[in-house]
Amino acid sequence: MQTLTQHLQQQGISEPLCQLILTLAETSKSISRAVRQGALAGVLGATDHQNVQGETQKKLDVITNDMLKEALKASGHVKGLASEEEDEVLPVSEQGEYLVCFDPLDGSSNIDINSLVGTIFSILPAPAGALNEQSFLQSGRQQVAAGYVLYGPSTMLALTTGKGVSFFTLNPDSSAYLLTQDNVTITPDTAEFAINMSNQRFWEAPMQTYIADLLLGSMGPREKAFNMRWIAAMVGDVHRVLCRGGIFTYPTDNKNPNKPYKLRLMYEANPMAFLVEQAQGKASTGYQDILDIQPERIHQRVAVILGSANEVDTCLAYHQETYSDQEPEL
Ligand code: F6P
Ligand code: MN
Repeated sequence: MQTLTQHLQQQGISEPLCQLILTLAETSKSISRAVRQGALAGVLGATDHQNVQGETQKKLDVITNDMLKEALKASGHVKGLASEEEDEVLPVSEQGEYLVCFDPLDGSSNIDINSLVGTIFSILPAPAGALNEQSFLQSGRQQVAAGYVLYGPSTMLALTTGKGVSFFTLNPDSSAYLLTQDNVTITPDTAEFAINMSNQRFWEAPMQTYIADLLLGSMGPREKAFNMRWIAAMVGDVHRVLCRGGIFTYPTDNKNPNKPYKLRLMYEANPMAFLVEQAQGKASTGYQDILDIQPERIHQRVAVILGSANEVDTCLAYHQETYSDQEPEL
């Protein structure tokens, strides 16, 4: 089996990008160990800090954020980094060729129940000049690589450098990431959806109608039965979609008028949209391809509808019918 290093070399990835991806992969092995140790290492539970998004940080959010920061600082190829757990973007090395955005531990509400969590990352080219928030505000189309590491029964890395999607599995004996699936492709049709149904009353009209029609199953206009899954960690739900198709959505809602969207563009939506498009799926806000969004703020949030191409198109048709392409004012 090909190792990650061999695969990157075979793909003709430049040396600096290759080294940066290997740095992220190496760090994920340490994160995997910390996650696996769990209560034995005293890493479970919450801190008394809130991050910039107003969420109470878990101990592992802080530990994994520090691990990634230290490794990226040492890599020499990173001009700056932005993390879901940092208030501001951080300058790293002036001569670094890349910017890295990451969610060090996605799905952190799963930590204390021994369920799926993961690390999501996005690599952008570093623009010339002084590093500031503006340097990061590039659309997802500019990403040169993106991926996630899923800390599940196996630790797996999903990676794209714009040449399709590959899965690597961490061999616990040799500590090497080995290529276990190449050219990952999302089936265009599906009968499986993922949404937090408890927010139903807060969704916009098109999402209400779309999900209501899925729930009607073979008795409704879709004339087939749909199954539902919800892991409560985007990284786990997107992994399932990459493995066997499906539609995953965290749509706009009006539960909290100051926070109409849940998922973060730079750390979650963009890297996942890059992976999904590279696997022949689609990723939209309902009104625009996620990768076409021009970011305005590093911590901005967006609505996400992604997965099997035909199913995403069907969902988008509900939005077009209601609003004829105009995103409604919230
Ligand atoms: O990072 C945000 C996140 O943890 C996602 O990974 C996940 O999809 C979502 O929040 C879960 O939210 P909820 O609490 O609505 O299930
Ligand atoms: Mn997250």
